[in-house]
Amino acid sequence: MENELQRLKAEAEEALHAIGDKAALEEFRVKFLGRKGLLSSTMKQLGKVSKEDRPRLGKLANTIKKGVEELFQDKKEVLESSGGGIVEDVDLSLPGRSLPFGKLHPVTQVMDEICAVFEGMGFAVAEGPDVETDHYNFEALNIPKHHPARDMHDTFYVSDSILLRTHTSPMQARIMENQEPPLRYIAPGKVYRCDSDITHTPMFVQVEGFLVDRKVSFADLKGVLSSFIHRMFRDDLPLRFRPSFFPFTEPSAEVDIACVFCGGSGCRICKRTGWIEILGAGLIDPEVMKMVGYDPDEFSGFAFGLGVERIAMLKYGIDDIRLYYENDLRFLSQF
Ligand code: PHE
Repeated sequence: MENELQRLKAEAEEALHAIGDKAALEEFRVKFLGRKGLLSSTMKQLGKVSKEDRPRLGKLANTIKKGVEELFQDKKEVLESSGGGIVEDVDLSLPGRSLPFGKLHPVTQVMDEICAVFEGMGFAVAEGPDVETDHYNFEALNIPKHHPARDMHDTFYVSDSILLRTHTSPMQARIMENQEPPLRYIAPGKVYRCDSDITHTPMFVQVEGFLVDRKVSFADLKGVLSSFIHRMFRDDLPLRFRPSFFPFTEPSAEVDIACVFCGGSGCRICKRTGWIEILGAGLIDPEVMKMVGYDPDEFSGFAFGLGVERIAMLKYGIDDIRLYYENDLRFLSQF
């Protein structure tokens, strides 16, 4: 009897160990622990053993039964927590699957680079609201209502007096009206115009820059912008200042660089001129100075505004601006 009990215990332990799913566990329960199972029927034999041996063997039988029941419960919990008993084969020697690294968007990378060049020249960075008032976007920049220059901006209006800023120039007025010269700022940020083709997206990024002090001249503007362009592209890249018009600068200019696609000999992208326009600039108009309370006889300054996507296109040889905003990872992961 004692041997029989010990043998049953060993058999039950071995069987439990091999079990991998709930159906096999239930079979085990019926076979060993059920009312007509092996343990119960062995215990029924206790009546036949001698009176002296009965208490000892009875105790042993109970201990063994309890032990098997406990192992059974443990196994049941393990199977339940591993999701119904599907034990996956995991090969720990296989190399791991790596996740692709995220990167900064190319426009963000170029914007950071532009800011770093100007910060190196002592400019501070300021940011303003994308949703702007008509006052800061136009009026304070010498563009009154019905001024023809408003047509150039393809403005998204929120209401009569609220709009999505069409350029970062409102930051000139916002900063100047709160601070006294000398000032040296750049203002990067998103701007919006109702326009979409291979060189325009309805949202794009500009960096505004301006400097106000005593005796600031056009030569200072030329020096700062030439250094910037040579740092961004290459030291000997030809550039030119071409007369232009903006209501908030006088005189005004646009800056062209030698076409980076054809080297200046003329191609489809530079429209056979050999030059590509990259920014607008000028000396801040005395009218703008007066509106923020500066005396134009005492102070002068320059301002410029450049399109970040444009500069990134020229740096990387991209010919369709819309690629930046289609979120195709095959394009974005190249930067
Ligand atoms: N705000 C002008 C534009 O978006 C660019 C500009 C900025 C021109 C500052 C002159 C001075 O076209």
